[in-house]
Amino acid sequence: MRWLSVVQAAAAFLAGADIVAALPSSSPRDLHVHERREVSHQRLHRRLDGDVVLPMRIGLRQNENAAAQSELWLREVSDPKSENFGKHWSADKIVEAFKPTDETVDTVRKWLVENGIAKERITHSDNKGWLAFDATAKEAETLLQTEYYHDADTHHDAKRATVGSNAYHLPGHIRAHVDYITPGVKSVSMNLHKRRLRRSTEERSEDATSDASATTKSRNSRRSRKAFPPDMVGKDANSLDTCDQVLSPACVQALYNFKAPNPQDPVSPKNVLGIFEEGDYYEQLDLDTFYHKYVSSQVPNGTHPKLESIDGGVAPVDNIADDGGESLLDFCVAYPIIYPQEITLYQTDDEYYAADGGGGSGLFNTFLDAIDGSYCTYSAYGETGNSDIDPTYPDKEGPAADNPYQGQLMCGVYKPTNVISISYGVYEQDQPYAYQRRQCDEYLKLALQGVTILFASGDTGVGGYTYGTFGNSGYYGCLGEKDNVFTPSQACSCPWVTNVGATEIFPNKTVSDPEQAVLEMADRPNGNYSSSGGFSNIFSIPWYQLAAIELYYLVDNPPYPYYHNGHWQNATNGGVYNRNGRGIPDVAANGDNYPVAQDGRFYLSGGTSQSAPLFASLLNRIIEERIKIGKGALGFINPTLYAHPYVLNDITEGKNPGCGTWGFSCAPGWDPVTGLGTPNYPKLLELFLALP
Ligand SMILES: *[C@@H]1O[C@H](CO)[C@@H](O)[C@H](O)[C@H]1NC(C)=O
Ligand SMILES: *[C@@H]1O[C@H](CO)[C@@H](O)[C@H](O)[C@H]1NC(C)=O
Ligand SMILES: *[C@@H]1O[C@H](CO)[C@@H](O)[C@H](O)[C@H]1NC(C)=O
Ligand SMILES: *[C@@H]1O[C@H](CO)[C@@H](O)[C@H](O)[C@H]1NC(C)=O
Repeated sequence: MRWLSVVQAAAAFLAGADIVAALPSSSPRDLHVHERREVSHQRLHRRLDGDVVLPMRIGLRQNENAAAQSELWLREVSDPKSENFGKHWSADKIVEAFKPTDETVDTVRKWLVENGIAKERITHSDNKGWLAFDATAKEAETLLQTEYYHDADTHHDAKRATVGSNAYHLPGHIRAHVDYITPGVKSVSMNLHKRRLRRSTEERSEDATSDASATTKSRNSRRSRKAFPPDMVGKDANSLDTCDQVLSPACVQALYNFKAPNPQDPVSPKNVLGIFEEGDYYEQLDLDTFYHKYVSSQVPNGTHPKLESIDGGVAPVDNIADDGGESLLDFCVAYPIIYPQEITLYQTDDEYYAADGGGGSGLFNTFLDAIDGSYCTYSAYGETGNSDIDPTYPDKEGPAADNPYQGQLMCGVYKPTNVISISYGVYEQDQPYAYQRRQCDEYLKLALQGVTILFASGDTGVGGYTYGTFGNSGYYGCLGEKDNVFTPSQACSCPWVTNVGATEIFPNKTVSDPEQAVLEMADRPNGNYSSSGGFSNIFSIPWYQLAAIELYYLVDNPPYPYYHNGHWQNATNGGVYNRNGRGIPDVAANGDNYPVAQDGRFYLSGGTSQSAPLFASLLNRIIEERIKIGKGALGFINPTLYAHPYVLNDITEGKNPGCGTWGFSCAPGWDPVTGLGTPNYPKLLELFLALP
């Protein structure tokens, strides 16, 4: 699994309602601090000239009705018992439902007009969540009773300076309608040479990018590869006798009871599998080497995904030091299951941000921006748009050899595919909770539109990576003073995605034997390899999972003290997991010993990185069959799966050790190691063909 760890950046916080003591006496306005930085911007040491034009954006307060109702809306379209099951929403309907109320828009607009910002200067963003206008620094300082600072020491710097303030004020009756304003406590990157008010809307929207003060470092790693068993080299690549040693595509078919598609069969151009990659790139020759050995009569050489390059993402590449492991695994798993169906590759980022020595970056926000333009400026939980931990564009830094991306952040340039598989993640404690909640809202919106999103659960059992995995630059093990509190992985902990754990065929077992939860206790760089699972500290148990988790606690109550509501810091009983958190994972699929060619040689890969595209590919097959009978995409499948667990092979053997424990145990029914179990293709197909 490609697990990019990001250290939480110091975040600005929303100040309370303290009233400003020293307002100019001429001000009749009832002004309050709306936001204030905990620590003032150190880098922004120069006062901004009054005639610099600022791209002002006002993030409007989220629609409370939408916030309160959105889970119900998703339930309505995804609960097989609901009348509106399968009636997915259009993107326009989502914008309408989630936009701020008319009262909010009108109140804020009126306040601006009364304070000298003419109506014609104010525009409303695509997702209706923002009001935008240009204002000179002087106008904005008066409006918000603030002072702007920047970091440009030279004329050249001024072309891409960072501008922000340490605090700003709003009247009481406006505060309730405003999430936050940029530039403000959250800085923007902009050109200080622009000093007049004559620019077009396009220029304006291109100007504002989010805070550039990223101080985080990311490192990435993946499961260490295993050597290809020497005595298997000359053997029949597709023999079912050795699936415990090398899991060929033929073994996957036998295990989950399906056949490879006929490559001559027509397929729907609308049903393409989406795969996300960051900082990892496929090589065509390696894919061909794999096809040639394992699926030569099905997948022709040269078969490759369609690249949807996001913010400079590239693929394929030759000869880069850290190429291939994740991408090659994903495509080698998916193509044999779905070909002649096609794959869309959502490749984010550029080499600079993704490389081991590069700057820090968040995961997924730039991807979500690219497939849903309305996400670029979506406000929720005090977060609007991308944050300090996300990459900013155009790339300011990075060695020239890495060809930093010089374009703007991409918003809404691609369409999401019906099914998207993501084998990347971090841990919940690595990113601000508000950041993760906002992202999870977006997964809900995609689910409402009929997109099925699968995430790999992670490869580190109930803990995180051990010290040293990232060159000693970070410690991601377990939480708490005693370093023994379990660490849920994310973004797979969002309840509106399908979270996939890993199983394996145990040594000397065959495809006809029940699988077990994956477990390798070997001294690997990342510690034990076991399927990440447990209970979220951020998200509570979603409705569709309540009965399954209750049953698990009855059948196989874990032998550890616990806490509630994610408050591990306050547990006085030594609790190590959140008793009422969203359970991880939902389902599982084989995640071990998959053959992958890299630089012309075969080795064995694995991880939940293998499990997610495997499960996703089967869902894409099912959608294809549904299209043939006039039905459509599946959308959010968890409610259907939890209501019909017999379509999965229940895994009852295995554990996921970590944090000095043996972790949780598999049990009959759902468990926090392998979820509901692995796919039983004919049963899954039958169920989903029968649904509307
Ligand atoms: C496909 O590519 C592989 C790897 O380069 C090669 O060994 C094989 O001969 C090719 N097959 C065909 C039909 O060209
Ligand atoms: C599998 O079988 C081989 C040969 O019979 C034996 O040496 C090995 O110990 C077995 N492995 C396990 C895990 O049972
Ligand atoms: C947890 O403890 C911290 C400080 O000890 C306190 O500020 C916070 O309110 C507590 N949270 C809960 C839910 O008890
Ligand atoms: C691996 O699992 C063992 C068995 O529970 C445990 O003692 C050990 O701490 C684990 N290693 C890591 C790095 O979590």
